[in-house]
Amino acid sequence: MFDNLPVPGRNDPCWCGSGKKYKKCHGPSDERMESLYLEGEEVLPRSLLKTAADIEGIKASAAVNMGVLDYVGERICAGTSTMDINRWVEEYLGAHDAVSADLNFEGYPYSVCTSVNDVVCHGFPNEKDILKDGDIINVDMSTIKGGYFSDSSRMYCIGEVSEQRKRLVEVCHNAVNAGLDAVRPWGHLGDVGAAVNKVCRDAGFSVVEEYGGHGIGREFHEDPFVSFVSEEDTGPVLVPGMCFTIEPMVNASKPGIRTDRGNGWIVRTADGSDSAQWEVQLVVTEGGYELLSW
Ligand code: MF3
Ligand code: CO
Repeated sequence: MFDNLPVPGRNDPCWCGSGKKYKKCHGPSDERMESLYLEGEEVLPRSLLKTAADIEGIKASAAVNMGVLDYVGERICAGTSTMDINRWVEEYLGAHDAVSADLNFEGYPYSVCTSVNDVVCHGFPNEKDILKDGDIINVDMSTIKGGYFSDSSRMYCIGEVSEQRKRLVEVCHNAVNAGLDAVRPWGHLGDVGAAVNKVCRDAGFSVVEEYGGHGIGREFHEDPFVSFVSEEDTGPVLVPGMCFTIEPMVNASKPGIRTDRGNGWIVRTADGSDSAQWEVQLVVTEGGYELLSW
């Protein structure tokens, strides 16, 4: 088959470990992948497809990941330092037999990313950064539990936030939902990015090109890369069992970004305008998708 992975006999047990006969399990989906591949479509290897057991593992990890974000949401307010958030994260993870996927990832030195106002992503928690009335902050959390990764992020508005900032946060959220609506089994990944991008552009905002979503499972960042600057009917075919994130970074003004030269991590808008991001994690199903982490 197109991905050179084994193909069981029709009546043999499925490769996914379900215990069902191949013909009653992944057989039909595998056949459809093969024929799309032969038609010239971009079809990703079946090794990326999550089994029922994988999804259970991801859900257990995601329960903690979302628990962290709830925990933060209950506490965050004007006067919170972004290092307080890092402490809450470690406290919660420790109490739930889980660890941060961020900490030491490619040398990242903290357990969470806290990105305030013009920080696009990878903001460092810092004792000296105290949240104040009117700030917007993205808290991006990624958890490893039982060998499975989960990943989602939320925006928090601190006190009274300007109408412009509220709109940025809201439009970004709507864009993620539009992306979710575009997830269809046997559709294309490009449909998702195109839907996200349209919502942002229609609102006069721009989407960062350099970063995107990603496959996720037993690894933090798996294929595919999920661009939010993409065209409909392009890119890999979406197949039930694919698990990935939708996480557009949306700038209030121009899409350009600059990475901090001092630490090589913190990304800001080039023009100093505000930026927002929401992230969800999903699995493609026969009927559409199931949200796993938000
Ligand atoms: N959580 C980010 C994502 O959504 C990745 C952050 S990597 C880190 O994919 F090292 F900065 F934590
Ligand atoms: Co992510």
